[in-house]
Amino acid sequence: MPRGRFITFEGGEGAGKSTQAQRLGVWLKARNIDVLLTREPGGSPGAEAIRQLLVTGDAGRWNALTETLLHFAARNDHVLRTIEPALADRHWVICDRFVDSTVAYQGYGLGVDRAFIAMLEKSVLGGLRPDLTLFLDLPVETGLARAASRRGGEDRYETMDIAFHERLRHGFHEIAARDPARCVLIDATEDVDAVQRQVIGAVVSRLLAPAR
Ligand code: TMP
Repeated sequence: MPRGRFITFEGGEGAGKSTQAQRLGVWLKARNIDVLLTREPGGSPGAEAIRQLLVTGDAGRWNALTETLLHFAARNDHVLRTIEPALADRHWVICDRFVDSTVAYQGYGLGVDRAFIAMLEKSVLGGLRPDLTLFLDLPVETGLARAASRRGGEDRYETMDIAFHERLRHGFHEIAARDPARCVLIDATEDVDAVQRQVIGAVVSRLLAPAR
């Protein structure tokens, strides 16, 4: 039986991922595709509990390695209890952030050994890979200004310095460049409808267009 497809959204703070993930969900449902919208950190009861440890409190609350392990602990629960069952049930899973966020934030941003992150990825995910990853890209200052206007308490990463956010943006660019078959860079400086057109364009050409 065919499985569903797995789409992830990635990007820095305030890039508009959640809005675009929801809009894509509505667009796919209108085409009679069963959709599960989820997010990281979170997406299962256990992972949502771990999320609170990660996104609240002081920037220096965790050692970078502890933080990496917490993200993977949450991800393991999320994959086992939410993502895999939905894909097996032929749902298209749209996930707001996934493992590329750990590579960008904890690897490029906080300096955790990327080979160690790759090892955790292999153990926790096995062969699970997104079919398509959409990187919503915009200048760091623009994203942080947008994010600051909407947050209620979940701002631990936003309080990290600009250099950290520049490093993770650079990280997302490198990840996307290394894996062009999976990744599409989206210009998120445009208005929300124009960004959605780019997102839909990528989904149609990568996942819905008939095989060439
Ligand atoms: P959100 O703001 O997109 O809901 O994500 C919560 C925060 O968690 C965001 O600041 C990015 C951060 N994060 C990481 O640092 N590493 C990860 O692996 C994930 C999934 C998120």
